[in-house]
Amino acid sequence: MRRPIIAGNWKMNMTPSQTRRLIAELKPLISDEDCDVVICPPSCCLQAAAEALEGSSIRLGAQNVHWEKSGAFTGEVSTDMLKELNVEFVIVGHSERRQYFAETDITVNKRARAAIAAGLTPIICVGESLAERESGKTESVVSLQTEKALEGMTKQEAAHIVLAYEPIWAIGTGRTATSDQANETIAVIREKVRRLYGSAADDVRIQYGGSMKPGNATELMAMSEIDGGLIGGASIKASDFAAIVHYNK
Ligand code: 13P
Repeated sequence: MRRPIIAGNWKMNMTPSQTRRLIAELKPLISDEDCDVVICPPSCCLQAAAEALEGSSIRLGAQNVHWEKSGAFTGEVSTDMLKELNVEFVIVGHSERRQYFAETDITVNKRARAAIAAGLTPIICVGESLAERESGKTESVVSLQTEKALEGMTKQEAAHIVLAYEPIWAIGTGRTATSDQANETIAVIREKVRRLYGSAADDVRIQYGGSMKPGNATELMAMSEIDGGLIGGASIKASDFAAIVHYNK
């Protein structure tokens, strides 16, 4: 059985003081859950988050990481920087980074592998655009993104990653994939992992992301292939995020 993982991607929201306040609200609502709970604040809020999370079962993730250990890479953060702040997870290859910041399958792979090498768990995002879905390319797009993201990983490494299926047309639009659409596409992604790594595919957790909210989390999480959620907008409202974490209560 795969342990579910619910992660909040705060994107470019929250200052350090707002981070402390939101975590103070979340802490009493979320403790010792049946799933892993992760929050991913902006880089400049990780220190505040790490301090505020002390004594909580909520775990810390970042939104990006560079593949080099250090050096002249203005604006980037390294694995050492993240690890010193108790960061355990890092989102890699989010569609917003692919779309606005020239992230490619190659840089996604480099970031993911650097994260693994440093002992961080990458949450690797894949997903198709609306045009790709409407022209019947969903399966080939997510399969290829998955294959490229995992290139060069060993079976042991692959077993420990988290994947997130985020259809671009469902992100921040209020338009959620139906639970069947999400389940079918996640099955395609898992099948790709199986072709590459055999039984390790049974251990890889694959989240759904895209307008996941308290009102649809229970139905999505009930699907056999969906092992968690990557939550954007609803993750910066304590009551909504907690309600999603409690999808089975
Ligand atoms: P929304 O939940 O705001 O649609 O964002 C999803 C997402 O992109 C999480 O990474």
